[in-house]
Amino acid sequence: MKTVCLRIHDEASFAEAVERAAKVLREGGVVAFPTETVYGLGANALDAEAVARIFTAKGRPCNNPLIVHTTSIEGARGLCATWPDAAARLAEAFWPGPLTMVLPKADCVPSIVTAGGPTVALRIPRHPVARALIEASMLPLAAPSANLSTRISAVRADHVMRMLDGRIEMVLDGGQTPGGLESTVVDLSHAVPRLLRPGLLDTAALEAVLGRKLAEVSEVSGKPNAAFPSPGMLKKHYAPLAPVHFSNDDGFEMVQRILAQGFRVGWMPLESSQSEVTPDLGVERVVMSNEPITYAAHLYEALHALEVQGVDRIVIQRPPMTDAWQAIQDRLQRAAAADEE
Ligand code: TXA
Ligand code: MG
Repeated sequence: MKTVCLRIHDEASFAEAVERAAKVLREGGVVAFPTETVYGLGANALDAEAVARIFTAKGRPCNNPLIVHTTSIEGARGLCATWPDAAARLAEAFWPGPLTMVLPKADCVPSIVTAGGPTVALRIPRHPVARALIEASMLPLAAPSANLSTRISAVRADHVMRMLDGRIEMVLDGGQTPGGLESTVVDLSHAVPRLLRPGLLDTAALEAVLGRKLAEVSEVSGKPNAAFPSPGMLKKHYAPLAPVHFSNDDGFEMVQRILAQGFRVGWMPLESSQSEVTPDLGVERVVMSNEPITYAAHLYEALHALEVQGVDRIVIQRPPMTDAWQAIQDRLQRAAAADEE
């Protein structure tokens, strides 16, 4: 299959690209598009065959359910069987935006979308290209992140092309996605709301609107409530190809040790780091922000860049273990856990 990549650079190309992509979606095809978090890989959520193509393109196991994207709360409500007060309040406060809510599914949602389960994940994105595409297609779009299964999410069209060229019909290139990390996933299908995946929307902000603490379900943190409600909690998600090592200092000495073993090293120190390496020592250095929102916006970009450089090992200076870094710590942990599988 030839993958068409359409670049959006002005109003005319925006309108034309969205129209062409909407046509592909209406015909049952798969289109990658930017959202405010990461690129999504969309298909008509109400067409089981179209959704099956997403799973094939990503190599995604069919036990991992997809998020369905709409542009209106009414549209989202039509896809779930109940709409609790907590959902209404969170939707009012955070949609459109990087929040995904898991609710009992309506009958119209094909079981392939929910991996055979009784719940559906719903999100209203904020990004103008995502919104225009959903509206032009007049469809709810099932869309996981636009990467091969278990690999790093894409935050630019070339990241999508690197992994999915030849496997999908189209990529809408709307530039780099501003957030850089996936949405926060909250399960409202039980009496106690649970955090399934920390993400771009701050957990504290969610809890403030809910008026209560979220129960946390994290396999990675090794907490005792080891329920496994969401295959996205698999350790192996969000992994670069090269093994990742953490350093509690800036990582300079670890980099030197790995270099001495003859490996090429990708190094991601924080910008406060004073250590310098001499160029052409086999080190690719990407300096990361000390500020979590900026760090998140550049994390996957940095990992993709190091992957393209072909480094053998990645050394990451561990950012602070504070709440503001929760989602970043989660993704870093998963990136490093990959080799343990
Ligand atoms: O920011 C995002 O959420 C991006 C953009 C494209 O919206 N999407 C995304 O999708 O990250 P994906 O498939 O890569 O991650 C969705 C996560 C997975 O961990 C999946 O297991 C979980 O949401 N999920 C989806 N439906 C679920 C359900 N019914 N119950 C529990 N978890 C669910
Ligand atoms: Mg994903």
